[in-house]
Amino acid sequence: MLKHLHISMAYLSLLFFIVRAVWAVRETPMLQARWVKVVPHVIDTALLTFGVLLAITLNFWPLPGWLSAKLVALILYIVLGTMAIKRAKTPAKRAGFALAAVVVFIYMLGAAIQRTPLSWLG
Ligand code: HEM
Repeated sequence: MLKHLHISMAYLSLLFFIVRAVWAVRETPMLQARWVKVVPHVIDTALLTFGVLLAITLNFWPLPGWLSAKLVALILYIVLGTMAIKRAKTPAKRAGFALAAVVVFIYMLGAAIQRTPLSWLG
Protein backbone atom coordinates (compact mmCIF):
# COMPACT_ATOMS: atom_id res chain seq x y z
CA MET A 1 0.00 0.00 0.00
CA LEU A 2 2.83 2.43 0.91
CA LYS A 3 4.61 1.32 -2.23
CA HIS A 4 1.54 1.95 -4.40
CA LEU A 5 1.14 5.42 -2.94
CA HIS A 6 4.85 6.10 -3.47
CA ILE A 7 4.71 4.97 -7.11
CA SER A 8 1.47 6.86 -7.86
CA MET A 9 2.99 10.05 -6.42
CA ALA A 10 6.12 9.52 -8.56
CA TYR A 11 4.12 9.43 -11.82
CA LEU A 12 1.86 12.26 -10.71
CA SER A 13 4.91 14.35 -9.86
CA LEU A 14 6.44 13.75 -13.32
CA LEU A 15 3.15 14.54 -15.06
CA PHE A 16 2.68 17.76 -13.17
CA PHE A 17 6.29 18.79 -13.73
CA ILE A 18 5.88 18.37 -17.49
CA VAL A 19 2.69 20.46 -17.50
CA ARG A 20 4.38 23.26 -15.52
CA ALA A 21 7.51 23.12 -17.70
CA VAL A 22 5.38 23.55 -20.84
CA TRP A 23 3.68 26.54 -19.19
CA ALA A 24 7.08 27.95 -18.19
CA VAL A 25 8.39 27.69 -21.76
CA ARG A 26 5.23 29.27 -23.18
CA GLU A 27 5.15 31.88 -20.40
CA THR A 28 1.51 31.03 -19.59
CA PRO A 29 0.09 33.11 -16.70
CA MET A 30 -1.42 29.86 -15.38
CA LEU A 31 2.00 29.12 -13.88
CA GLN A 32 1.45 31.91 -11.35
CA ALA A 33 -1.88 30.53 -10.12
CA ARG A 34 -1.79 29.78 -6.43
CA TRP A 35 -2.86 26.13 -6.70
CA VAL A 36 -0.22 25.49 -9.38
CA LYS A 37 2.44 26.58 -6.90
CA VAL A 38 1.02 24.63 -3.96
CA VAL A 39 -0.01 21.27 -5.50
CA PRO A 40 3.53 20.16 -6.57
CA HIS A 41 4.77 20.70 -3.01
CA VAL A 42 1.97 18.53 -1.67
CA ILE A 43 2.65 15.76 -4.23
CA ASP A 44 6.42 15.87 -3.74
CA THR A 45 6.18 15.92 0.05
CA ALA A 46 3.89 12.86 -0.13
CA LEU A 47 6.29 11.16 -2.58
CA LEU A 48 9.26 11.67 -0.29
CA THR A 49 7.36 10.85 2.90
CA PHE A 50 6.13 7.53 1.47
CA GLY A 51 9.68 6.85 0.18
CA VAL A 52 11.21 7.41 3.62
CA LEU A 53 8.47 5.31 5.29
CA LEU A 54 9.12 2.50 2.78
CA ALA A 55 12.84 2.61 3.45
CA ILE A 56 12.21 2.48 7.22
CA THR A 57 9.54 -0.26 7.14
CA LEU A 58 11.57 -2.42 4.79
CA ASN A 59 14.79 -1.87 6.75
CA PHE A 60 16.68 -0.38 3.84
CA TRP A 61 19.79 0.47 5.83
CA PRO A 62 22.59 0.72 4.85
CA LEU A 63 21.08 2.24 1.72
CA PRO A 64 21.35 -0.04 -1.31
CA GLY A 65 23.25 1.42 -4.30
CA TRP A 66 20.14 2.06 -6.39
CA LEU A 67 18.48 4.00 -3.56
CA SER A 68 21.55 6.17 -2.94
CA ALA A 69 21.73 6.80 -6.70
CA LYS A 70 18.06 7.78 -6.68
CA LEU A 71 18.62 10.28 -3.86
CA VAL A 72 21.60 11.90 -5.59
CA ALA A 73 19.56 12.08 -8.81
CA LEU A 74 16.68 13.60 -6.84
CA ILE A 75 18.87 16.55 -5.78
CA LEU A 76 19.95 17.04 -9.38
CA TYR A 77 16.32 16.85 -10.52
CA ILE A 78 15.30 19.53 -8.01
CA VAL A 79 18.08 21.87 -9.17
CA LEU A 80 17.28 21.33 -12.88
CA GLY A 81 13.56 21.64 -12.17
CA THR A 82 13.93 25.02 -10.44
CA MET A 83 16.09 26.26 -13.29
CA ALA A 84 13.42 25.17 -15.78
CA ILE A 85 10.48 26.68 -13.96
CA LYS A 86 11.89 29.68 -12.10
CA ARG A 87 15.44 30.69 -12.78
CA ALA A 88 16.30 30.35 -16.46
CA LYS A 89 15.64 33.59 -18.30
CA THR A 90 14.77 32.53 -21.87
CA PRO A 91 12.17 30.00 -23.09
CA ALA A 92 14.93 28.04 -24.89
CA LYS A 93 16.97 27.70 -21.69
CA ARG A 94 13.89 26.72 -19.71
CA ALA A 95 13.08 24.05 -22.30
CA GLY A 96 16.65 22.69 -22.10
CA PHE A 97 16.61 22.47 -18.30
CA ALA A 98 13.13 20.91 -18.38
CA LEU A 99 14.29 18.21 -20.80
CA ALA A 100 17.35 17.48 -18.65
CA ALA A 101 15.13 17.26 -15.54
CA VAL A 102 12.78 14.78 -17.25
CA VAL A 103 15.77 12.64 -18.32
CA VAL A 104 16.98 12.57 -14.68
CA PHE A 105 13.48 11.63 -13.51
CA ILE A 106 13.32 8.75 -16.01
CA TYR A 107 16.74 7.66 -14.73
CA MET A 108 15.27 7.59 -11.17
CA LEU A 109 12.33 5.48 -12.31
CA GLY A 110 14.75 3.04 -13.98
CA ALA A 111 17.01 2.88 -10.91
CA ALA A 112 13.99 2.09 -8.69
CA ILE A 113 12.39 -0.46 -11.01
CA GLN A 114 15.59 -2.27 -12.05
CA ARG A 115 17.16 -1.85 -8.62
CA THR A 116 20.54 -0.80 -9.94
CA PRO A 117 22.32 2.55 -10.29
CA LEU A 118 22.69 1.61 -13.97
CA SER A 119 18.96 2.34 -14.20
CA TRP A 120 17.36 1.14 -17.48
CA LEU A 121 20.72 -0.18 -18.69
CA GLY A 122 20.99 -2.55 -15.75
C1 HEM B 1 13.32 10.37 -0.23
C2 HEM B 1 13.32 9.83 -1.43
C3 HEM B 1 12.96 8.39 -1.71
C4 HEM B 1 13.08 7.26 -0.92
C5 HEM B 1 13.65 7.16 0.48
C6 HEM B 1 12.56 6.15 -1.69
C7 HEM B 1 12.49 4.83 -1.25
C8 HEM B 1 12.01 3.77 -1.97
C9 HEM B 1 12.03 2.39 -1.53
C10 HEM B 1 12.57 1.89 -0.19
C11 HEM B 1 11.47 1.63 -2.51
C12 HEM B 1 11.36 0.12 -2.52
C13 HEM B 1 10.01 -0.41 -2.17
C14 HEM B 1 10.00 -1.92 -2.20
O1 HEM B 1 11.01 -2.57 -2.33
O2 HEM B 1 8.92 -2.47 -2.07
C15 HEM B 1 11.08 2.54 -3.59
C16 HEM B 1 10.48 2.16 -4.75
C17 HEM B 1 10.20 3.00 -5.80
N1 HEM B 1 10.51 4.34 -5.87
FE1 HEM B 1 11.27 5.47 -4.40
N2 HEM B 1 12.13 6.60 -2.91
C18 HEM B 1 12.38 7.97 -2.96
C19 HEM B 1 12.11 8.82 -4.01
C20 HEM B 1 11.61 8.42 -5.23
C21 HEM B 1 11.40 9.29 -6.36
C22 HEM B 1 11.71 10.79 -6.42
C23 HEM B 1 10.88 8.53 -7.36
C24 HEM B 1 10.54 9.00 -8.72
C25 HEM B 1 11.31 8.81 -9.71
C26 HEM B 1 10.74 7.17 -6.87
C27 HEM B 1 10.23 6.10 -7.59
C28 HEM B 1 10.08 4.81 -7.11
C29 HEM B 1 9.46 3.73 -7.84
C30 HEM B 1 8.86 3.81 -9.25
C31 HEM B 1 9.54 2.59 -7.01
C32 HEM B 1 8.99 1.19 -7.31
C33 HEM B 1 10.02 0.28 -7.92
C34 HEM B 1 9.42 -1.08 -8.18
O3 HEM B 1 8.62 -1.22 -9.11
O4 HEM B 1 9.77 -2.01 -7.45
N3 HEM B 1 11.19 7.14 -5.57
N4 HEM B 1 11.43 3.83 -3.23
